Amino acid sequence: DELPEEVGVKILVTGGAGFIGSNLVDALLADGHGVTVLDDLSSGYGENLAHLRGREGFRFLEGDVRDEALLAQAARGQEAVFHLAASVGNKRSIDNPLTDADINVLGTLKVLEAARAAGCRKVVFSSSAGIFGELKTLPIAEDHPVEPDSPYGCTKLCAEKLCLAYAKLYDLEAVALRYFNVYGPRQRFDAYGNVIPIFVFQILRGEPITVFGDGEQTRDFVHVRDVVQANVKAALSRGVSGAFNIASGTRITLNDLVDLLRETGLSPKVLSGPPRPGDVRHSLADLRQARTLLGFEPRVDLREGLKEYVAWAREEAAR
Ligand code: NAD
Ligand code: UD1
Repeated sequence: DELPEEVGVKILVTGGAGFIGSNLVDALLADGHGVTVLDDLSSGYGENLAHLRGREGFRFLEGDVRDEALLAQAARGQEAVFHLAASVGNKRSIDNPLTDADINVLGTLKVLEAARAAGCRKVVFSSSAGIFGELKTLPIAEDHPVEPDSPYGCTKLCAEKLCLAYAKLYDLEAVALRYFNVYGPRQRFDAYGNVIPIFVFQILRGEPITVFGDGEQTRDFVHVRDVVQANVKAALSRGVSGAFNIASGTRITLNDLVDLLRETGLSPKVLSGPPRPGDVRHSLADLRQARTLLGFEPRVDLREGLKEYVAWAREEAAR
């Protein structure tokens, strides 16, 4: 089931049914590329790709990135691989450390092997700011110490290093993108959720939200469209391998985030809870490397991005 030649560059997206992956797939198809998605739907949703069924240049393979035979089939003829499939999040990794390592470390190694065997030019790996662990200096540049404080942070760091080692050993370029706090359409509220979907869906259900601690902790929230932009630019970059922070380069306190949610028309009932153990206090990325070497420039303003997210969440909640 080869893709037709005329659809442009051929690309594999692992984890393409997920929140970030499905946004990336839409952008790649809109740019005229042929896209194969490999996803086992463990934390992704078929619904994220339902609008693409039957579309020329799009192919969906349901399966596990640890399945080498399937990976070989998926990687054949691809110019680039975006590797997003992962066990995602600190809490999930603390609950299931062996699965986390199996998918994030061995799974990534299998993706690299498949990409090398298939002669792919570039692998773009989705890493995480979770590799840094406790934050010592702000803003956080790429050379900030890496002392992850969860299995997830460790396996993402290991996977990142495997990608960079492959780029040294073989004729394969590899870029690791360390996302900070990503938000945007298709980010759902689940047991391992991030704060923006948790707050927005709780408010839409008429439930109170809980701010952990004094609410003066800060985060660098980056819109999924900017993360997609970073992935595309990383793939286009010629001769570049390395690890890059991907964020907005701005930070906001949780209390101010709640105020921005009010501005979108939501009316949160705010409770205060104890500080969450293990939380980092402040987070802010230094983006100079990504700007200089990838040409990355975050464009989505948090106020606008939240309005759009709340509109998506309202439709989602009404279903
Ligand atoms: P997500 O859970 O929506 O996406 C992950 C996708 O991978 C899902 O579709 C899931 O079904 C698939 N998957 C998981 N295990 C698989 C396996 N063994 N084989 C095949 N497919 C598998 O999460 P997301 O937020 O879109 O995350 C995408 C990537 O970005 C992940 O690598 C994650 O670690 C990274 N990341 C996300 C954030 C964030 O804030 N959302 C921050 C830092 C890094
Ligand atoms: C997120 C990721 C983590 C990753 C890190 C890297 C998740 C769930 N968290 O952590 O895996 O390593 O980025 O940057 O994927 N909060 C509340 N009330 C709530 C929920 C959260 O006050 O109901 C607060 C938290 O205490 C925290 C902030 O909101 O201070 C952000 O929380 P969260 O969305 O979980 O993100 P991070 O802690 O930054």
